[in-house]
Amino acid sequence: MKKIEVGILGATGMVGQRFVSLLEDHPWFELTWLAASDKSAGKTYAEACNWRLRTAMPEKVQGMKVHECKPGKAPQLIFASLDSKVAGEVEKEFAHAGHVVVSNSSYFRMEPDVPLLIPEVNPEHVALLRAQRRERGWKGMIATNPNCTTVGLVMSLAPLQKEFGIEKVLMTSMQAVSGAGYPGVPTLDIMGNVIPYISHEEEKVESETQKLLGKLVDGRVEPASLAVSAHCNRVLVEDGHTESISVLLKASPSVKELIEVWRKYRSVPQERKLPSAPAHPIVVREEKDRPQAKFDVYTEHGMATVIGRVRACPVLQFKYTALSHNTIRGAAGAALLNAELMKAEGYLD
Ligand SMILES: NC(=O)c1ccc[n+]([C@@H]2O[C@H](COP(=O)([O-])OP(=O)(O)OC[C@H]3O[C@@H](n4cnc5c(N)ncnc54)[C@H](OP(=O)(O)O)[C@@H]3O)[C@@H](O)[C@H]2O)c1
Repeated sequence: MKKIEVGILGATGMVGQRFVSLLEDHPWFELTWLAASDKSAGKTYAEACNWRLRTAMPEKVQGMKVHECKPGKAPQLIFASLDSKVAGEVEKEFAHAGHVVVSNSSYFRMEPDVPLLIPEVNPEHVALLRAQRRERGWKGMIATNPNCTTVGLVMSLAPLQKEFGIEKVLMTSMQAVSGAGYPGVPTLDIMGNVIPYISHEEEKVESETQKLLGKLVDGRVEPASLAVSAHCNRVLVEDGHTESISVLLKASPSVKELIEVWRKYRSVPQERKLPSAPAHPIVVREEKDRPQAKFDVYTEHGMATVIGRVRACPVLQFKYTALSHNTIRGAAGAALLNAELMKAEGYLD
């Protein structure tokens, strides 16, 4: 198969760097175009980017020129990880000009005609793209992935919703500093501290969860009716959002049944063998002190949600801990998997 050329908007940022790294040996996509802000445009990627990953900057991108975020010469398929202040306008301009934008930013996530996708959870929502194109008059289109905190929560909830139904969810997050981009949270604010506020995060987790678990009816998503309450905190962890979750289900399974449902869970990305799909989207650990970001965040190359400490909850019904890699499964890896789903479903032909 001839590889599809792709570009990155926001290539120099935390998520942009993950894209560059994950695209290095991608079997379907070939990275040929990079863009960032005016301060980076015109420089080589090596000059413009303060590379923060532990693996080396791929040789191929080092000498590539960084462009302005303007459509025209960019490839048709664009991964977007732009600063949220500019993401909406730039993504709209690219979609209007005929590009397929697979976005990380929150700007379009809750628009009724924009798919908010986790391919293991709601692959059928990709069908919103047809209506979007028709109704907006764009030659291109926009698909989105959820907030990095929503992903781990919803990956853990989706199998429970399918098997048992869910009434209520309470989630308290401990979110990594890389979730705030680079340079992110000042050292003096986060060192020896927990910050109990992340702007707009709780609202995003609550509304995105309902859209992701919603049903596609007559070409529109009917949000799921479960009640979701999120408490979001920033902690001094490099990568990986840890979440303490309590749920009230509509049925009364045992802890053992819950674990079995999670362990058995497979969906479209696994069936279609999409290149970025984890073989096991949910990994359940039995040790009493796992998952831990330090040891478990790269499970399945950072694409799995790792669950542990599953037990009864005296207030709701069950409680557990979930861990998900925020810049891989919560951002660049999520968008790659979305694009792979779109390719497999014929949206990139
Ligand atoms: N970090 C995460 O875990 C995570 C997870 C999910 C979603 N997201 C979302 O992904 C997006 C990127 O996040 P990040 O963490 O990678 O942020 P970041 O490290 O701050 O990177 C921001 C990127 O946007 C570019 N940029 C900034 N201002 C611009 C402008 N005026 N015009 C064009 N480009 C501009 C920057 O280019 P320069 O280097 O040239 O300034 C950089 O490439 C955000 O919308 C964020 O909400 C992040």
